Amino acid sequence: MNYPCQDCSQCLEAPAKVNLTLDILGKRTDGYHELATVMHQINLVDRINLKRGGTELRVSSNSALIPVDEENLAYKAAQLIFEKFAVREGLQIYIEKNIPVGAGLAGGSTDAATVLYGINHLFGLGMGLETLLDLGARIGSDVPFCLLGGTALACGRGEILTPLTEGPPLHMVLVKPDFQISTREVYQAFRLEKVNKSPDNPAFLAAWRNYDIINVAQEMNNVLETVSIEEHPEIALIKQQLLASGALNALMSGSGPTVFGLYASLEEAGRAFKNMQDKYKEAFLVSSYRRSERHDG
Ligand code: C5P
Repeated sequence: MNYPCQDCSQCLEAPAKVNLTLDILGKRTDGYHELATVMHQINLVDRINLKRGGTELRVSSNSALIPVDEENLAYKAAQLIFEKFAVREGLQIYIEKNIPVGAGLAGGSTDAATVLYGINHLFGLGMGLETLLDLGARIGSDVPFCLLGGTALACGRGEILTPLTEGPPLHMVLVKPDFQISTREVYQAFRLEKVNKSPDNPAFLAAWRNYDIINVAQEMNNVLETVSIEEHPEIALIKQQLLASGALNALMSGSGPTVFGLYASLEEAGRAFKNMQDKYKEAFLVSSYRRSERHDG
């Protein structure tokens, strides 16, 4: 996941995720919701540069949309490790932001996961995956999945992970409408009784194992659409447009507002992308993120 480059100690890719299914089984006593969700990494990536030196922990970014103080999950991740290992040295974290912010794509979580992973290597701390996952869960519910990568069924708050086999390569068009959504507010407004049809995760997983893209598409379902679409009807409109452009199915990712269309081939996704690009400022043509195709080594 890392490679040395000329002007920084470590450059890392931090991939976004989409939720192919998202079911909520109930509310927990700790205020969180019990989930059963299939998460899938895509090749829309932030790039993180980590540079040792100085006396301070510093975050900077090409994006004015993210905080660079303790509010930033990547900052929190570094702070957590530095406290755990009593690190006295400084660290500069640069985040090249390409993943839309407040979009349901785990942009902040993947940056944090990558910083945990990167610091572990850069400072030779020797933490194993279990320890990293544990630290990740303390930062945010999506961080453990971002550390694990690939495709996984996530239960509990999102931290109980079952990795899935690689599955069929997916080709998608992502559309992020021109507003952000607060994950917390969406979960707070969620009402189980408003859900007509919950995801059938066993059926989804069977289709996944069989490389059956038609049924993978068919079984895509996200119960949080009941909240986000009611508040932002534009999400339903984007779904319709993606379907009209040839998508096998279209779904909101996470708590939204990003919607993705899944296509039978890269060519079909490419054609739809051209169409959506004319309508939306933030449209992306993406595919599954394959570890073997990583550009950071
Ligand atoms: O864990 P994280 O801080 O990313 O979650 C953001 C918010 O989303 C939480 O404060 C909570 O309101 C909501 N959430 C939830 N149940 C989950 C995950 C997140 O209610 N399983």
